[in-house]
Amino acid sequence: GKGAAMVTAVAYRLTDQARQIQETLAEFRLSKSQLLEVKKRMRVEIERGLKKESHKEATVKMLPTFVRSTPDGTENGDFLALDLGGTNFRVLLVKIRSGKRRTVEMHNKIYAIPIEVMQGTGEELFDHIVHCISDFLDYMGMKSARLPLGFTFSFPCHQTSLDAGILVTWTKGFKATDCEGEDVVELLREAIKRKEEFELDVVAIVNDTVGTMMTCAYEEPTCEVGLIAGTGSNACYMEEMRNIEIVDGTEGRMCVNMEWGAFGDNGCLDDIRTKYDQAVDENSLNEGKQRYEKMCSGMYLGEIVRQILIDLTKRGFLFRGQISETLKTRGIFETKFLSQIESDRLALLQVRAILQQLGLDSTCDDSIIVKEVCGTVSHRAAQICGAGMAAVVDKIRENRGLDHLDITVGVDGTLYKLHPHFSRIFHQTVKELAPKCEVNFLLSEDGSGKGAALITAVGCRQRELDAQ
Ligand code: GLC
Repeated sequence: GKGAAMVTAVAYRLTDQARQIQETLAEFRLSKSQLLEVKKRMRVEIERGLKKESHKEATVKMLPTFVRSTPDGTENGDFLALDLGGTNFRVLLVKIRSGKRRTVEMHNKIYAIPIEVMQGTGEELFDHIVHCISDFLDYMGMKSARLPLGFTFSFPCHQTSLDAGILVTWTKGFKATDCEGEDVVELLREAIKRKEEFELDVVAIVNDTVGTMMTCAYEEPTCEVGLIAGTGSNACYMEEMRNIEIVDGTEGRMCVNMEWGAFGDNGCLDDIRTKYDQAVDENSLNEGKQRYEKMCSGMYLGEIVRQILIDLTKRGFLFRGQISETLKTRGIFETKFLSQIESDRLALLQVRAILQQLGLDSTCDDSIIVKEVCGTVSHRAAQICGAGMAAVVDKIRENRGLDHLDITVGVDGTLYKLHPHFSRIFHQTVKELAPKCEVNFLLSEDGSGKGAALITAVGCRQRELDAQ
């Protein structure tokens, strides 16, 4: 009768809806051959970044860091470190002791950087940084020490030495004026002078990937790659000097900051980018830039999820078709929420509670869909990040003329550390796409602080040698 026909109609609408949702998510599900293609393209861009004639136009910049060896355990002294560009801004005092019992002791304080300062003038930003250092030195009672300082500055910098770095472009949430094209070490030194309260000896500018690699290498000498899967996404590794054409010399190795977040900025990933990726890009502070990073780092995953949810809601598949103010708010799905939503131990009721906390009223069906959207987006992120890493380790293997390479990658970042599935899928992908490499992953303990201090120690030692 009529009732049965209505039930069939409802059932049909539901399956049709389920089919359309699956079609939407299918674009995010990459096949092995697509991932191999991502790996191959990353390799092409790596070569373009390394070669002199293509370096200028290259999107993956392959920036020299002037770090020429990993630590050997003889590093010693007290250092100050700054960490700018991750989830928090921190100032640290790092005491490194060499000898039979090597120790590293750290004290640190976290400081907020208000959005107005991140996106204000460069002078305000650096004055704020120096203000925080001043507070920290007071707190530690070390204002008169003139300590050597390592500055972990997690943005692309053109380095011509260990202690000079010209900011190529801001990435992530930063946009302070008058910094791009300037030497960031000079900006810091000038701000310290303006303050007239203390002196410091800025010895090194360090990318967070490099700090992470160095920290892990201090414990595990086979560590010659660094990876950050956090707010941003990037990697570094020890490249042969002979391949780094923009630096003089052919002997030995140098760590290269890849800046792989910019992979795809020349359009080479367009066939796998979805309209949701494009919407995230258009809504960002740096449209057209960091396209790979926008597909695989913590700052943007939640935004991709949000774009999909908005679309599914518009099509009447979610939230009773109502787009709330919350859903229109940029940045609501932080990594920690995505991690919670995707946790296996979480009952659907708890997913609904989290959505409720975010101000989203959901039905039970809604929460199932939201969880699947999150899972699909983070799965792709882990896979394409794995494809990038597969390209790197295979490149190192070929550099060394080996059929088989054993190597360790030092890793840090909130996405890698907090997310319930990212690291596993990432590992699996590297294994599948680079079968000739045995890759070991080592979590770094505070790479940005400890690593900067280790590099500063090596820098100080080198300076003493040069002076002799
Ligand atoms: C962004 C920065 C890069 C940094 C990464 C991780 O990609 O450009 O320098 O290493 O974020 O923090």
